[in-house]
Amino acid sequence: MTPEEAKLKMDALVKELNDHNYKYYILAEPVISDLEFDRRLKELELLEEQFPHFISPESPSHNVGGGISGDFETVPHRRRMLSLGNTYSEEELREFDNRIRKTTGAEVEYVCELKIDGLAISLFYEKGKLVQAVTRGDGTQGDDVTNNVKTIRSLVKHLQGNFHPNFEIRGEIFMHRKGFERLNEERIEIGELPYANPRNVAAGSLKIKDSTEVAKRPLDITLYHFLADEIPFNTHFEAIRAAGSWGLKIASQTKVCKGVDEIMEFLHYWDKERHNLSYDTDGVVIKVNDLALQEELGFTAKVPRWAIAYKFQTESAITELMGITYQVGRTGAITPVAELKPTFLLGTTVKRASLHNANEIERLDVRIGDMVFIEKGGEIIPKITGVDFSQRKAHLGKTVYITQCPECGTSLIRNEGEAQHYCPNEDNCPPQVIGKIEHFVARKAMDIESIGSEMALVLYKNNLVKNVSDLYALKFEDLIQLERMGEKSVNNILEGIEASKKIPFERVLFALGIRFVGETVAKKLANKFTSIHALRTATKDELIAVDEIGERIAESVIQWFDKPGHQKIIVVLENSGIQLEKTGVTGPVSDKLQGLTFVISGVFNKFGRDEAKDLIEQNGGKCAGSVSGKTDYLLAGDGMGPAKLEKATNLGVKIIDEDAFLGMIG
Ligand code: IVH
Repeated sequence: MTPEEAKLKMDALVKELNDHNYKYYILAEPVISDLEFDRRLKELELLEEQFPHFISPESPSHNVGGGISGDFETVPHRRRMLSLGNTYSEEELREFDNRIRKTTGAEVEYVCELKIDGLAISLFYEKGKLVQAVTRGDGTQGDDVTNNVKTIRSLVKHLQGNFHPNFEIRGEIFMHRKGFERLNEERIEIGELPYANPRNVAAGSLKIKDSTEVAKRPLDITLYHFLADEIPFNTHFEAIRAAGSWGLKIASQTKVCKGVDEIMEFLHYWDKERHNLSYDTDGVVIKVNDLALQEELGFTAKVPRWAIAYKFQTESAITELMGITYQVGRTGAITPVAELKPTFLLGTTVKRASLHNANEIERLDVRIGDMVFIEKGGEIIPKITGVDFSQRKAHLGKTVYITQCPECGTSLIRNEGEAQHYCPNEDNCPPQVIGKIEHFVARKAMDIESIGSEMALVLYKNNLVKNVSDLYALKFEDLIQLERMGEKSVNNILEGIEASKKIPFERVLFALGIRFVGETVAKKLANKFTSIHALRTATKDELIAVDEIGERIAESVIQWFDKPGHQKIIVVLENSGIQLEKTGVTGPVSDKLQGLTFVISGVFNKFGRDEAKDLIEQNGGKCAGSVSGKTDYLLAGDGMGPAKLEKATNLGVKIIDEDAFLGMIG
């Protein structure tokens, strides 16, 4: 392949893979399988190795946090990892029981368990220690994701009590809705689109290369299938209970049912009650309890004959689309919202549903006046799944997306490759300005607790605060004349503002609300440039040279500082005594690692991974997420993946342990 051809191919793959990531995480409508995705990613990674100078900053191969990676070792399953047959009908469930009773000639004992909507995992414990975790993959082989699974807090790595010496246990990794919502709030805060559902995020989280990133994802696990060469139990229920006694987290909402009628009771109860759980379930799994009978019944080519999944009907309704409104977020992102004729669905009245973006409207071809299908996706947030075209009235015109901001009238823009439209009037568009004030005073930013969302709005509406620097000009006289304001509240606000002058530079930088500059990026920029003036004059190349800062962030930072209004804000903040410089450590402590790129893998005894990273950067070196032709050293700790080791060896990358590393920096 000529370099020109390689470049074209690489660009095409980056674009395609990013598009698939978007469909998977944001729209929750993957169009290719994980396997197919991994195959194309591998293809890209191979090209990146051969032509490292063509690596795009947008490449999904090194973008952690949502990116899927093909970097895990594929291992064969010791026992095939099958799925279950499923049904939506009680009738078929009775047939399932009939078939089994033909074998036994008597009533059968079953165990009913909730079917959690996550992703299947197989764990191996040897002598009480977790030794391996593998994803289902295609059922015969999966990805070894041991290091990532080890970050799940509710999973024990060392068993207790009278545990079996050598067994496999399978279960489901999932995310609670609360954790999912928190993750999305953080994403929205840095101007990223929210993920569509907990399941995909749980699945994607396991495929992040950097386990420290995975550790930040609120994952949980439940175990439901015990396997071993010699099983010292007679029933499934006993085996799972024993696993529980060794400290493993097992399914809790389970019941032993005698005969099919007791199964039905369980189904009817949980069909309603599941909405009160903190996680999503999509059905009930019914298993023959007796392990000897399980063995006798065996498997069809694809699924066990001794178990079946009963899926709850996803509740859906049909209602009229009365209109489409458009919301403007803090970062100026426009979200179209369907205004529905109120309809009752799963215990609540649904009046609105997100339509996400212009592409989604286009895809659904939804028009005002249409009858639309709504479903509670993820059980909570209603979703429009389609249009009932059989009821479409002849005169309905195609939906035309707005071109002007509904709040301030500015012409909207849409950057290439992005789904969302934006209002660029960031400093005068009311919801954006108010959002920026709210963000500035938030706990993780300037932490001015006495100003909440409501107060931010009041200050804005009364013309007291038009941008964040106005906060520092507020006087007692200004505030006391506001409605329902007592002396005490006024003093609280002023004290809060005063205290914020001590907030360190990195948080001030985050508080400014520069698009794509979230907490982590702010920290990185503050560490590197150490003052707002150094950052303001940084060139694009200097910005991109910082670890994990790509073109998109660099451009956004430069654009922000370019605006005269923002320069004024900086001057006022500076004169008010805000920390616009980093105190304490400044700049690198040495240049011993100047020009060297490191990849960190595994865990260490003498320092944590973050510390290692800091040490490298403080001594002038750079860190990368994956081994490539550009890597100089692989800093190897315990439990490093064999795939990484092999890649490093093949590429002639030097491999050092922690002592050798500490020796390098003295
Ligand atoms: S038993 C051969 N039990 O649902 C036995 N699976 O649609 C296979 N699942 O592949 C699995 N909760 O990923 C079983 N209590 C449960 C489950 C469960 C969720 C998942 C699992 C399975 C899929 C089948």
